[in-house]
Amino acid sequence: MFVTLEQTDVAELHQFRDPVTGLRALIALHSTRLGPALGGCRCLPYPDEASAIADVCRLARGMSYKAALAGLPLGGGKAVIIEPPTDYDRAALYRSFGEAVHRLGGRYITAVDAGTEIQDLDQVAHVTPHVRGCSADGIDPSPYTALGVFAALNAAIQHRLQRHGVRGLHLAIQGLGHVGSQLALMLGRAGAKLTLADLNTLRARQLADRLHADWVPADHIYDVPCDVFLPCALGSILNADTISRLHSPLIVGAANNQLATPSDARRLLERDILYTPDYLNNAGGLIALALGHQQVPVDQIRRKVLTIGRTLTRILHDAQRLQVAPATMADRLAEQHLHDARPETLQSYPEARHVYA
Ligand code: NAI
Repeated sequence: MFVTLEQTDVAELHQFRDPVTGLRALIALHSTRLGPALGGCRCLPYPDEASAIADVCRLARGMSYKAALAGLPLGGGKAVIIEPPTDYDRAALYRSFGEAVHRLGGRYITAVDAGTEIQDLDQVAHVTPHVRGCSADGIDPSPYTALGVFAALNAAIQHRLQRHGVRGLHLAIQGLGHVGSQLALMLGRAGAKLTLADLNTLRARQLADRLHADWVPADHIYDVPCDVFLPCALGSILNADTISRLHSPLIVGAANNQLATPSDARRLLERDILYTPDYLNNAGGLIALALGHQQVPVDQIRRKVLTIGRTLTRILHDAQRLQVAPATMADRLAEQHLHDARPETLQSYPEARHVYA
């Protein structure tokens, strides 16, 4: 297997192996133009290295764009660990990963993502300071990610359905992990009618019981007629098959890289389904990690996360005016920020001034 950087669109791609702990990890730095690349670490049983490389590179690019749109002085990077196929010592694996992170000298800062837990980051923190969201930080990004999706959802509902708030709307949530479960709790409290799904059906059933909501087996969630579909599991779930099954005018989710291929954006347009940019919806966790580490008070972090709604409103209006997809509009805006901004000028971003002034 040989992958060129040209194919991957990242500035750097690092591979790490440790035969003692079974570590096989990849760290991709898409850009460090605005600052050190902060991005979570996924640990999944990837079928092969090629799919792990594709995942880490796509995710790293998303982190660059996410930080740029959020007005944070951070670059974009991501890590994946190919989960060992047999029993392994989890603590040793994450310490070994921490050593890999440390070797990059602070240009990459790691955090939680699908398949990793705060306890894993605590192991990483034993060997490197380049980690955010471990127990010592006292910041769990997932509730902030959920809060940001909540803000994006309200903005999208206002734009597409001309409704204020989620009360009485039917929302279908795919994936009830760190983010999806928090989001379900918020939306349940706000009066939405929920249909829940997770590969772990016990998790779906228990949460549905708690919220007096419905649940369906994981693969049936695409067929549920609803006002909004919220993908909060893994990426690449919007493809020719699933898009043809959707009965929802709006998609607002936390999962990274929800579109399987660029042509799936066109499929959604053809079906008149409004797709909101994933890396904007889910920026809340990144904002919390970045600001929490600077000891910014929680109420100020929450206010900053809620600005995701305003940014999405602006993108939806501009996209409509210019007749482009909102995801394209978001990409253009992020690329413009990446191109124009120098770290020292970040203070002049309206969103950044609010927090850093
Ligand atoms: P998680 O690993 O805690 O939860 C994912 C959940 O989705 C699990 O319960 C899993 O069983 C379920 N799932 C997986 N495939 C599924 C399928 N096909 N159908 C239904 N359920 C399925 O992950 P977490 O942290 O909740 O993240 C969810 C998504 O949000 C991921 O794509 C992640 O990259 C993204 N994200 C998470 C952030 C965070 O703060 N945790 C920040 C930004 C993005």
